[in-house]
Amino acid sequence: MINIAILGFGIVGSGSYDLTVQNAGLIEKKVGDSVKVKKIVDILDFSKHPAWSLFTKNFDDVMNDPSISIVIETIGGTRFAYDFTKRALAGGKNVVTSNKELVSTHGLELAEIAKKNNAVYLFEASVGGGVPIIRPLKQCLAANEIEEIFGIVNGTTNYILTKMRDEGISFEDALKEAQAKGYAEKNPTDDIEGHDPIRKMNILAWTAFGKMADPEDTNAKGISGVTAEDIKKAKADGCAIKLIGRAKMADGKVKCSVAPERVPLNNPLATVDGVYNAIVVRGNFVGDVTFHGQGAGGRATASAIIGDVIEIARDIVASRKRA
Ligand code: HSE
Repeated sequence: MINIAILGFGIVGSGSYDLTVQNAGLIEKKVGDSVKVKKIVDILDFSKHPAWSLFTKNFDDVMNDPSISIVIETIGGTRFAYDFTKRALAGGKNVVTSNKELVSTHGLELAEIAKKNNAVYLFEASVGGGVPIIRPLKQCLAANEIEEIFGIVNGTTNYILTKMRDEGISFEDALKEAQAKGYAEKNPTDDIEGHDPIRKMNILAWTAFGKMADPEDTNAKGISGVTAEDIKKAKADGCAIKLIGRAKMADGKVKCSVAPERVPLNNPLATVDGVYNAIVVRGNFVGDVTFHGQGAGGRATASAIIGDVIEIARDIVASRKRA
């Protein structure tokens, strides 16, 4: 049996738990061993949850259990998540995360700690929710020189822009609706001011080019300045307004940006609506490849997280056979 722990039981953490339970049989077949959640760390009270016996408030319970080889970090932010991830990796445990803030600020250091301790730090779920993009960049498209990566990497702002276009409403009203539906956070700054998508573009740049952009080569503009009038005018000109992230190499430097752009309606990105994301990778041999799917939400993001868990679990099973 391969034991895992989940840190943070919010939408993504609980989605990951549900996936391991619901698809336990097929995961076992694919891995060649069963994969079970042994501990869940969260400071809230889950005594009424059917899996109540797995919960602990103490991260040491994970560190002190040598049978736990994979830790899923879905706490978010950089405070506890950074400390717990460092400790888990330094202790030789593999870590899988959806935490783009942590990956974009401390990813290099964490990947180094993982390497030194014979562990891995995987973060497929940190960009594009359920959309596969990190592994395709690292593996399937590895033979290409990547000329540019661009697309829609924030579901909340795409939902707001779609509402504004379809219903002719203001940014403020669309944001309120997104908050009421649970798509936008109570404090939506990270999404609407472009901080979340620029982190994701930096993670893509790191994956494709081996480094993130320096602050002076990073430019993030959000959608709070987009008006109903801008959208109406764009529509009349046969365009949609989309928040587009871009990452490329120019003059030997990595450049990352995010800004609202007018996208002609005959461009496939113009019809990517709601919380969906779409990322185009332009390779010098393959040309343009587009990855499209649900960019947020517990189930879609859990799909990417458990995909990473399965990759590690397969390696564990293979190394047992070699031993
Ligand atoms: N706030 C993010 C978004 C969540 O809206 O895309 C998924 O990364």
